[in-house]
Amino acid sequence: MEGERPRYFPDERDISAALPFTPGFGSTPPCLVGRDELIRDVCALLAGDPASEGGANVLLAPRGMGKTVVLNEIEDAARAERGWLVLPISGTDGKPIEETHKAVRQAQDAWSQAHGDPAKRSVSGVSLGAVGLSAGVSFAEESDSRRTGYGDDLRRDLGDLASAAARAGSRVLLTMDEMHAIPLAEARKLGSYIQHIAKRERQGLVFLGAALPYITETLLADRKSTFLQRLAVHTVDPLSEPETRRGLREPIEMHGGLIKDDALDASSSAVAGHPYMLQLVGDRMWRAAGGAGNPITINHAKKAVAEAEESLEDHLFAPTWQSLSDNDKRFLAALAALAEADSSPRVTAVCEQAGIGQTSGSAYRKRLLLSGMARPAGRGRLKLAHPAIGPWLRQSIATGSVQVPEPPLPGI
Ligand SMILES: Nc1ncnc2c1ncn2[C@@H]1O[C@H](COP(=O)(O)OP(=O)(O)OP(=O)(O)O)[C@@H](O)[C@H]1O
Ligand SMILES: [Mg+2]
Repeated sequence: MEGERPRYFPDERDISAALPFTPGFGSTPPCLVGRDELIRDVCALLAGDPASEGGANVLLAPRGMGKTVVLNEIEDAARAERGWLVLPISGTDGKPIEETHKAVRQAQDAWSQAHGDPAKRSVSGVSLGAVGLSAGVSFAEESDSRRTGYGDDLRRDLGDLASAAARAGSRVLLTMDEMHAIPLAEARKLGSYIQHIAKRERQGLVFLGAALPYITETLLADRKSTFLQRLAVHTVDPLSEPETRRGLREPIEMHGGLIKDDALDASSSAVAGHPYMLQLVGDRMWRAAGGAGNPITINHAKKAVAEAEESLEDHLFAPTWQSLSDNDKRFLAALAALAEADSSPRVTAVCEQAGIGQTSGSAYRKRLLLSGMARPAGRGRLKLAHPAIGPWLRQSIATGSVQVPEPPLPGI
């Protein structure tokens, strides 16, 4: 007689619609801490005159600091509180002009459809916001064959959309995550369109991007684009100690758990202000303790920190190390070596240790800050951006899993 089939998926009720932490890139956490002021500041700028500097903004931070989450919160607030039309674009596709144009056309279709024009196709992925879109909206009609040629008429179509939004008392918010990934030529073109619509035509079009900090050296330093040069920059900073503690404790308590004081001390100091690490440590502690109703002890916290550090190494430190130039790697390795004895060594000492001339010190310092592997530590000093970077790099170099490039021979 055949027995009952074994069951492999977890019981749906056990997944408890209710995990307190979300250790994944881009997932909004149940308890978002420390970002209210930043979000309010950016919203205030977006709500101001679109033709002013605050009409175009960019959020900058290293990986895992919470850019996407902040961007998504602002998009949601714009839809819910103002009924704005939000067009979210991702820079990773490498074709922002085409992506933007597709989104604009979808929005035009959705807009027309909202007015009961049955000839229009059904669309998805576009939110029209809460505003009732009043009559009198019409967009330039094109044959289907021309409509597949995205790009050329973007300025006109985006301008028309912003003007239709304005007539309905609304605005268009164009957002671009992973903005560092877009090609310069496309960034210039898109920037000039946005600038023309917002400043020359004075339509209600506002912009918010999110990117890794190195774009201050690339896109934002572009002399040919005033749009890129003038983007208002907002940094998404590490969380403070009290914010980190709240970010760990609140979701646990909200989900029927409890964390002991010593466990909270140990876990929040290991997080060191890093939001992705917060989610990793929180999640691993919650699982180690066995979920709701089980107090999280110091042993659960220690186990969780060890697991989370491993994950941080694989998903953050190692890929960032790979992306550094040979000289930057030597500079970072020297910083990690010195940081064992002094957590904030002098840049001059780092240069000496790395065999790099003192004159290049400030350039390397800046590049490491932009990579997110280091933080400033007072005049002429530097420290590693996360306490786990030093032990990881020293250990990886010692075991040979990471190689530090040799300095070039003199005269080459
Ligand atoms: N303020 C916060 N409070 C608690 N958790 C946060 C906060 N901000 C982000 N997180 C969590 O941190 C992780 C990383 O967030 P997010 O993906 O937004 O970072 P990011 O800066 O966009 O990273 P990347 O550069 O890799 O795209 C997510 O798991 C998210 O839930
Ligand atoms: Mg992101």
